[in-house]
Amino acid sequence: MDVCLSSAQQSLLPGALQEDGTGGPPGDANNIESSLRSLQKFVPTDYASYTQEHYQFAGKKIVIQESIESYGAVVWPAATALCQYLEEHQEELNLQDAKILEIGAGPGLVSIVASILGAQVTATDLPDVLGNLQYNLLKNTLKCTAHLPEVKELVWGQDLEQNFPRAALHYDYVLASDVVYHHYFLDKLLLTMVHLSQQGTVVLWANKFRFSTDYEFLDKFKQVFDTTLLAEYPESTVKLFKGTLKWD
Ligand SMILES: C[S@@+](CC[C@H](N)C(=O)[O-])C[C@H]1O[C@@H](n2cnc3c(N)ncnc32)[C@H](O)[C@@H]1O
Repeated sequence: MDVCLSSAQQSLLPGALQEDGTGGPPGDANNIESSLRSLQKFVPTDYASYTQEHYQFAGKKIVIQESIESYGAVVWPAATALCQYLEEHQEELNLQDAKILEIGAGPGLVSIVASILGAQVTATDLPDVLGNLQYNLLKNTLKCTAHLPEVKELVWGQDLEQNFPRAALHYDYVLASDVVYHHYFLDKLLLTMVHLSQQGTVVLWANKFRFSTDYEFLDKFKQVFDTTLLAEYPESTVKLFKGTLKWD
């Protein structure tokens, strides 16, 4: 089993991070652990809620820092299903150097696995979970992926053209896991998926189906995307869909 750098190994590296986590030489010492700590803007108020959860995908051990205090700081069931699919279909999906954006990335497991599989990944979410997301991404991809994943704020439906101008972007894949649940932003979520899709962009959306509103969202998704059910995971009631934007 191949493993990314341990904390101890990382702290020995000649610097690869700046304080803002963007890469390049560190400001003072070679202590990457302290740089990683400084990135953690998401700080649970109940420290007992922090856990380190372990996953194995693409031949790597992945350690994710989670907290039950935020929806966006926990790995949800559709994330592991999507990771399994990416791992099993990496060649068919042609993930090497593929340009990928993940929406609602949460603690980052899907983006980490896509990065390990060779993709150029931008992981996005609400501002308050980006610190933990950045921490997990760096911890699990530093020095063991061809492309260091990026983290960017993306609030569904908000300032999309300003922050993600359609003329300038082309993603091969937009990934989304468990972004559909009981919340008030489903129309904005769909709008965001559409905005990020160009000719050739494939949306891979995995979701645990719980509520009637989840199926209502699926109906709306099918109205704007040519939709294929790629996989079902009956043990978790997760379904994985492929969508390509209808252009007529
Ligand atoms: C149920 S969690 C799923 C997290 C991760 N994708 C997973 O499957 O483990 C939903 C994610 O969507 C994000 N989210 C919720 N509402 C959002 C919004 N309006 N704009 C952007 N992200 C949002 C949350 O912060 C959270 O990370």
